[in-house]
Amino acid sequence: MIFQNWNNICLCGEEETLFPAGGKRVDEPFAPLVFLVRRDGLTSRGLYAVTSLAEVNEPEGVACLTPAAAPETGPLADFVARHGAAVLNTAFSNAFAVLQRFVQPKTSGFRVTLVGLGDVGGTVLTGLKLLGQEIDSIAIYDPRQDMCRRYEMELGQVLEQDRPMPQITICREEDLFRCDLLVFTASRGVPGLDSGVQDVRMAQLEANRTMLAAYAKRARQEHFTGLFCQVSDPVDHLARGVFLDSNRDEHGVYDFAGLLPEQVQGFGLGVMAARAAYYARQEHVEFSQGRAYGPHGQGLVVANAPAVGYNDAVSRHLTELARTANLQVRALGFKPYIAPGLSSATISLLQLLRGEMHYGAVPLGGVYFGCRSRMTRLGLQLFREPITPELLARLEETYRELKEADRP
Ligand SMILES: NC(=O)c1ccc[n+]([C@@H]2O[C@H](COP(=O)([O-])OP(=O)(O)OC[C@H]3O[C@@H](n4cnc5c(N)ncnc54)[C@H](O)[C@@H]3O)[C@@H](O)[C@H]2O)c1
Repeated sequence: MIFQNWNNICLCGEEETLFPAGGKRVDEPFAPLVFLVRRDGLTSRGLYAVTSLAEVNEPEGVACLTPAAAPETGPLADFVARHGAAVLNTAFSNAFAVLQRFVQPKTSGFRVTLVGLGDVGGTVLTGLKLLGQEIDSIAIYDPRQDMCRRYEMELGQVLEQDRPMPQITICREEDLFRCDLLVFTASRGVPGLDSGVQDVRMAQLEANRTMLAAYAKRARQEHFTGLFCQVSDPVDHLARGVFLDSNRDEHGVYDFAGLLPEQVQGFGLGVMAARAAYYARQEHVEFSQGRAYGPHGQGLVVANAPAVGYNDAVSRHLTELARTANLQVRALGFKPYIAPGLSSATISLLQLLRGEMHYGAVPLGGVYFGCRSRMTRLGLQLFREPITPELLARLEETYRELKEADRP
């Protein structure tokens, strides 16, 4: 194994060709330690955190949500167990630039861009204004100029509190990616209440994917090293779409010169977890260990508990209630956007910025899979815990379906 000191990061790899220019050989590993690998960009992760050497080369799939295989032994394994490490896929041309940005994370003064000021966008913005103490500024963008002016005025007129609140400014198109976090809530058209459309999320796929392609290309051109947070529907498929479209050259060929998979994250599972908790309370079901996984919509998996106490019938019942909760609000004659804006986006985004475990769709073996994870200076860290085989089989099924649907 070769170790190099590169900008005070310890890079470690089996071949010289994996290393960037400018590193100096060292004899011993030091923290932060980064394992360099080269893997297929279409089906592999880009930058992720590990707590054991056994995780470095494990196959990608839902088993990564359970505790890793027995730890290896030896000095390197001991080092990783003590300090943790990152794995970086050098197949992505921006891998080292993104690594540097992650290793020196900001803890305050974030700059956010919010694209799309419809019902969801307006709710997310209101939530971030009130709760986002660690955000300095939110630059807002929507083709509807009147909406930009409206929110700039309305949220500029919120009474000061004894803790900081972000400033709201109107974003120029050319400044969209001058931020740490771009939150995307725009849609080309949510089916109306009387449209008769059953799956209002999937119905938006084609139009929203086309709209997003322009933003994905722009992220690529500007060598964006921040995070692209996808909120509009269908969240999980569009997150994958943003990643893919940013990694194609002008002839449509994948060259992996765009976003790393972990720079894109889908935000739709937060509201599913909150809806499941709501129905569990109504039906007096214990849900303190409750979990939600998979896509925001068809394919969702809710569990009353991940391992001990898992009840398949109760879990499937809660899954169905959470999956169709939006239709209950629609039946009252209203478009549901308040709980989604606050749970899937505002609260989950703030947890992301704070480095806390949160719900989001994250890259795993070539799909964006909803689960709990957190952002660390060593990359994205999955929440791993024992999962009962019955539940794991459900997760594998929904994972397979996503993989089939998102084949490039
Ligand atoms: N993630 C979740 O939990 C969740 C929950 C509910 C809804 N949603 C989704 O959020 C999205 C937004 O819903 P909504 O109710 O706010 O829709 P909306 O129709 O009220 O607003 C959409 C906004 O997008 C803007 N827009 C259109 N084209 C644009 C472009 N090219 N660039 C920038 N902005 C553009 C429009 O001007 C409009 O302001 C939908 O896809 C909806 O299904 C997500």
